[in-house]
Amino acid sequence: MSELRFDGQVVVVTGAGGGLGKAYAKFFASRGASVVVNDLGGSFKGEGKDTRAADVVVNEIKAAGGKAVANYDSVENGDRIIETAIKAFGRIDVLINNAGILRDISFKNMKDEDWDLIFKVHVKGSYKCARAAWPYFRKQKYGRIINTSSAAGLFGNFGQTNYSAAKLAMVGFTETLAKEGAKYNILCNVIAPVAASRMTETIMPPDVLALMKPEWVVPLVAVLAHPSNTSESGSIFEVGGGHIAKLRWERSQGLLLKCDETFTPGAVLKKWDRIVDFSNPQYPTGPNDFLGLLEESQKLGPNEQGEKIDFTGRVVIVT
Ligand code: NAI
Repeated sequence: MSELRFDGQVVVVTGAGGGLGKAYAKFFASRGASVVVNDLGGSFKGEGKDTRAADVVVNEIKAAGGKAVANYDSVENGDRIIETAIKAFGRIDVLINNAGILRDISFKNMKDEDWDLIFKVHVKGSYKCARAAWPYFRKQKYGRIINTSSAAGLFGNFGQTNYSAAKLAMVGFTETLAKEGAKYNILCNVIAPVAASRMTETIMPPDVLALMKPEWVVPLVAVLAHPSNTSESGSIFEVGGGHIAKLRWERSQGLLLKCDETFTPGAVLKKWDRIVDFSNPQYPTGPNDFLGLLEESQKLGPNEQGEKIDFTGRVVIVT
């Protein structure tokens, strides 16, 4: 089988001065793409800036015979990053929204600036880059976007309310972009990576970090970003340490109640186990058929009442 190549394509990687971004940038350049290596060059907490982070990666790519150009803007100014791609290479085909910072702190001690900065970099930054790339993608009827979420966003993690909220925002952002982009062959997916980087080196032991090379996140990103991917869009993936899995929403079978005066908390409690029963689930990709459900509900008889529940699992009905 021939290798996946990106000849003639232009790939923008944000936060490509280190960690995962650097691995993406070097890979795409090694497979024939012209790469915009964006990095603000600040600390992992989002302080300061430095042109060296991006320059080092550009030099490494060029030394290996690849094509790359540096951009030092913050992703908050995503239009300038995309402009760099257009000025240097005349087009953009792939956007990897990867730049990120951490401001971990317990919720009790969270300050507005910790919250705001995380949202500026992750959410506004991804928006600004995608927004600036969008007209080019639409016009050429081709575009691939990879956004970056996190297990902290999908599942929550102590000390990361700001980061978790911003990272789950990447999921909603991705799913809507995938829907709006479908008509124009713009595919958008989101990954929750795990990799050794300066972000994780302080919280994991060296022997574990050795098993989490950023390079092991690259193959999935390459597959999703490649022209041969014509259908995988709006999807969420976990990737790292050799493992790749897709995640999806699961909706319980659910409870339908008659909407009249018998629709009381007691009626909900009486059938609580139906609400939390995942034995016959749906895997929704959109909202429920609300009007259809309303119609069904009106056909039901009055709801049974009950008022006590054991939330550890089964409902205990007191009659
Ligand atoms: P990293 O700190 O090595 O790389 C992030 C890069 O983004 C840095 O080079 C930094 O200078 C750059 N950056 C930060 N703010 C920027 C801004 N405003 N504009 C432009 N560049 C900026 O971290 P890592 O681990 O490579 O993270 C990459 C992405 O993956 C981030 O979005 C992170 O949240 C996410 N992630 C990483 C995980 C991991 O296990 N390493 C786990 C889950 C998510």
